[in-house]
Amino acid sequence: MRLMISRRGFVLGACAVSVTAAVPATAESRPGLHVLRDPNCGCCSAWVDILQADGFEVTVEESEGAALAQYKLDNGIPPAMGSCHTAKIAGYMIEGHVPPADIRRLLDERPDAIGIAVPGMPYGSPGMGPAGEREAYEVFLIRRDGSTEVYASYAAA
Ligand code: CU
Ligand code: CU
Repeated sequence: MRLMISRRGFVLGACAVSVTAAVPATAESRPGLHVLRDPNCGCCSAWVDILQADGFEVTVEESEGAALAQYKLDNGIPPAMGSCHTAKIAGYMIEGHVPPADIRRLLDERPDAIGIAVPGMPYGSPGMGPAGEREAYEVFLIRRDGSTEVYASYAAA
């Protein structure tokens, strides 16, 4: 069960706190996003649903524990930037509950970087509960040397 396409209606697992946010209907397709996620993590499914509803073509690969952690390290995600799921799109890494708008911006701007990350699992980030109750969080750009800078900031709701 290496590869599977996630879909709505997945049973929410242990790390789920949340509900899938309401999102607008699909726009045109964007480059494919390949997600590695723990099959028991509901918030990862919720994030995948949001990305799909936003028009991203998403493929999902189950991975967990040490293998998933190693994959992140091998792909340049600093441990301090770690979250639950991780993804790749157009050569960039997307770590954690990154809003779709920031992924689109990354694809538009094409910085010389590893990718972007939302470390931890901030409440109210996409897939982590209602944006209307969100805690403040930041999206970080991960540079090729492993340094990071703030890419986007979301204030508390
Ligand atoms: Cu999560
Ligand atoms: Cu996740």
